Amino acid sequence: MYLDIFLDAMKNRFKKRIHIDLYSGSGMSERPRSSCLRAGSPFIALDRQPKFDHYIFCEKNGQDLRALEARIASHFPDQKPSIIPGDCNEQVDRINQELNKVIGDLGDSTLTFCFIDPYALDVHFETIKKLAENRKMDFMINIMLGLDVKLNWRAYLADSSLTIANFLGSQDWRNGLGKNITPPSLSLYVGEKFSAQMASLGYLHTNPSKDFLPFENSKSRIIYYIGFFSKGRIAFKFWDDAKKYGGADSELFSR
Ligand SMILES: C[S@@+](CC[C@H](N)C(=O)[O-])C[C@H]1O[C@@H](n2cnc3c(N)ncnc32)[C@H](O)[C@@H]1O
Repeated sequence: MYLDIFLDAMKNRFKKRIHIDLYSGSGMSERPRSSCLRAGSPFIALDRQPKFDHYIFCEKNGQDLRALEARIASHFPDQKPSIIPGDCNEQVDRINQELNKVIGDLGDSTLTFCFIDPYALDVHFETIKKLAENRKMDFMINIMLGLDVKLNWRAYLADSSLTIANFLGSQDWRNGLGKNITPPSLSLYVGEKFSAQMASLGYLHTNPSKDFLPFENSKSRIIYYIGFFSKGRIAFKFWDDAKKYGGADSELFSR
């Protein structure tokens, strides 16, 4: 839903619109509790009208990557996306090179939409920073501060764990933690720190309690939060419109 609103609204505002999917998957994913396949995020983006001018997909798993390439060739033969194999945190310079090639000298008139859909708190703030600096780029991030933190919070708190340090781009993130930490208080703390980090890149302030959208499983357990980040106020109007249709479910990224 958000992509439709975004593309329609941006088609006359920007000469180029680019889509990046850092955790692409294979192009199709299985529906929970069923063997039916449904379009994954790359297919959802490729299927939208008006089209983006270019697509960049990154996928770490070789089998998923090959499936994605084959499916795009068969379903979208006219599209020639950049498909980057490997870990997006390691490949970010290559992704940036692709982006620079496509943007050319249309920097100010290009808007990039970046979707981040990991299984865990895997994306590094440094990756986001390298992509976002000196560019117009909106982010939709599935922030894994739900079940993952509930299950792994003790491991994340251990001095040896770099997961949250990498996610926040800060080695001393534990300094402001109070006592009596619980999974919800840790999630809120990390969410607020992450929002502050995005604000340091010029993104408009977001309040996790109010602005992050919880995504729940069938047992009403929060799996992750959808966070939206933009440097432009108008994007939040579209985001608010999309939320009215999408509610707290995955339809926000789809139709
Ligand atoms: C939650 S799935 C993404 C699903 C996809 N967005 C969709 O709608 O079908 C996460 C994907 O990211 C891949 N992945 C995991 N870590 C990665 C990393 N560091 N860089 C790039 N891809 C990664 C996994 O192999 C998996 O295919």
